[in-house]
Amino acid sequence: MARFIDELKRTHDCGALRTADVGHEVVLFGWVASRRDHGSLIFIDLRDRGGITQIVFDPTVGAEAHSLAEAMRSEWVIGIRGRVRARGEQWSSKEQKMVSARNPNLVTGEIEIEVLEATVFNRAETPPFEIADQLDTREEVRLEHRYLDLRRQPLQRALTVRHEMNQAARNYLAGQGCLELETPFMVKYTPGGARNFLVPSRLHPGTFYALAESPQIFKQLFMVAGYDRYFQIVRCFRDEDLRLDRQPEFTQIDIELSFINQDDLFTLVEGLVFAIWKAALGVDLRELYPDGHFPHLRFDDAMTRYGNDKPDLRFDLRHFDLTDLVIEHGGGGVPFFAPIAEKFRSGAYRRDLPAEIVKAFVIPASAKFTRPDGEKLEQVAKSMGAVGVARAKVAADGTFTQSPLSKSITPEFRAAINALTGAQEGDILVFQSGKASLVHTVLANLRVHVAKQIKLIPEVGHGGQWNFLWVVDPPLFEYDEEAKRWAAAHHAFTRPHDDHVDLIERDPGKVLCYRYDLVLNGFEIAGGSIRLHDPEVQQRVFTALGISDGEAQEKFGFLLSALRYGAPPHGGIALGMDRLAMLLTGATGIRDVIAFPKTQKGTDLMSNAPSPVSPQQLAELRIRVATE
Ligand code: AMO
Repeated sequence: MARFIDELKRTHDCGALRTADVGHEVVLFGWVASRRDHGSLIFIDLRDRGGITQIVFDPTVGAEAHSLAEAMRSEWVIGIRGRVRARGEQWSSKEQKMVSARNPNLVTGEIEIEVLEATVFNRAETPPFEIADQLDTREEVRLEHRYLDLRRQPLQRALTVRHEMNQAARNYLAGQGCLELETPFMVKYTPGGARNFLVPSRLHPGTFYALAESPQIFKQLFMVAGYDRYFQIVRCFRDEDLRLDRQPEFTQIDIELSFINQDDLFTLVEGLVFAIWKAALGVDLRELYPDGHFPHLRFDDAMTRYGNDKPDLRFDLRHFDLTDLVIEHGGGGVPFFAPIAEKFRSGAYRRDLPAEIVKAFVIPASAKFTRPDGEKLEQVAKSMGAVGVARAKVAADGTFTQSPLSKSITPEFRAAINALTGAQEGDILVFQSGKASLVHTVLANLRVHVAKQIKLIPEVGHGGQWNFLWVVDPPLFEYDEEAKRWAAAHHAFTRPHDDHVDLIERDPGKVLCYRYDLVLNGFEIAGGSIRLHDPEVQQRVFTALGISDGEAQEKFGFLLSALRYGAPPHGGIALGMDRLAMLLTGATGIRDVIAFPKTQKGTDLMSNAPSPVSPQQLAELRIRVATE
């Protein structure tokens, strides 16, 4: 029978021992994180999930163990029995004197273990990169050997945070009377929404399942079935273009509730977020939000002031819409504003439909923004599809300098801009004009870029600031400029505001709805809606969207049928677990908080997925791969 594991059981993990344990005999198991050979003494930092403990092999204490340690190398897996002792002093060749051997950077730094007995469970090849907290190894190499990468402390921390989030979410939601229920991953393909991954059916050749992009329809069916309150921590699959905060498979904390309104749902989610922050970080958000609620911002205001629906409000730098001024001043002498004013004058553009707009924001003089900083802005804007960006520095008398606008702008228009934006001497105005969607995207990105550049927020991470925000009351419909008709801004089952139902036919652009996003520091961390459970209003929405009965049946069939059999008023939300973990840990990207993520190109570098399959498998599925 093996002595270690069978007889000698682990007594502590490698992060547990303190001065109070001095004198005790302990058994530790772990990996060799580093090894220093000081002639007769060999020091090893032993690592496991709990942390790191220094162990010392002294031939006069454990001769056999010491000779084993002579061969030990990084990442070998070993076990030791030894005695805890306080660290004393050691000779520093650098300082040429005796110094304290305590390590203030380790929680176990006050003690070390003198080894009495040791075993080697397994040797290890030299790893392709060092298992260290900070690395400049290429991410591809780390992903290829993810099991080694996962030994690193930042990843262990991230996955531990996920564990804590899971526990906190389950406890809290169960405490709120929600049932944890499961829904299928292999579902019927329905058009619209995110692009689905398809799974071929062998039993029904030529047909496909879709991998669920979310449990949306099923959780609504649970409400129809009377399950009242539901949650699920669930994997979702979307074949989207990947970004810093997007993965093809990701996890949601998914919630649906019956007999509630938007405020009831917000209260539940706020409680959940508070519980997660407490569990994962020990942070009490009540200190920031004493009444327990996050502020609300109307969708329209978010777009006007910040150019997007997930503004980072850790800083201001708000946008100003100058379009009305441009119209009023007939372009105000600025050559590239004049045609826009003219199109509104002639009626080619309408202010209530998407058209060209002019917006600006102010970089305060105190930011000491330099000319090269300004040129950087130009590059950022161009990378987002803008032709460029116009800037103007405001002089003491209010005139514009260092600007393409300075020569021709009329004094009246310039004064009106300064009055609207509050621009003062030394401030820099940044302008963007063109299609509304482009202007918003460019200025929203420049706003964040400038905030980082002038250090209002850190380059990555939260900087200790948690700015939560509910973005509410978006329009139900959005105008599809290409098709020249109204389309559902989100999904066709969102409930319009009761007093806007009459506008569905008359003025669809004005219909606001109960859809909401929860935003944290500029990231959308959750989204949901109160659902439309009234078949009559549902029908009117479909009609406004130009969706025929047949099409509705084809697209939403069983949900539509279910809603006719007594659906309670209900609504829900889903929180993006990976994004939450990313923000909680201050990680630079979503891949750093997912154990086995996909690359930007959707591949798994460790297993080499996706991969071709054999002709037999394809034949069984009746699939033929088209060559180019
Ligand atoms: P939505 O599509 O807004 O809503 O998704 C909810 C939240 O999930 C996160 N998220 C993602 N995270 C990582 N990678 C992705 N590719 C990704 N896509 C979305 C975001 C987002 O806020 N069924 C509805 C919810 C509802 O209406 O109840 C839904 O899925 O943080």
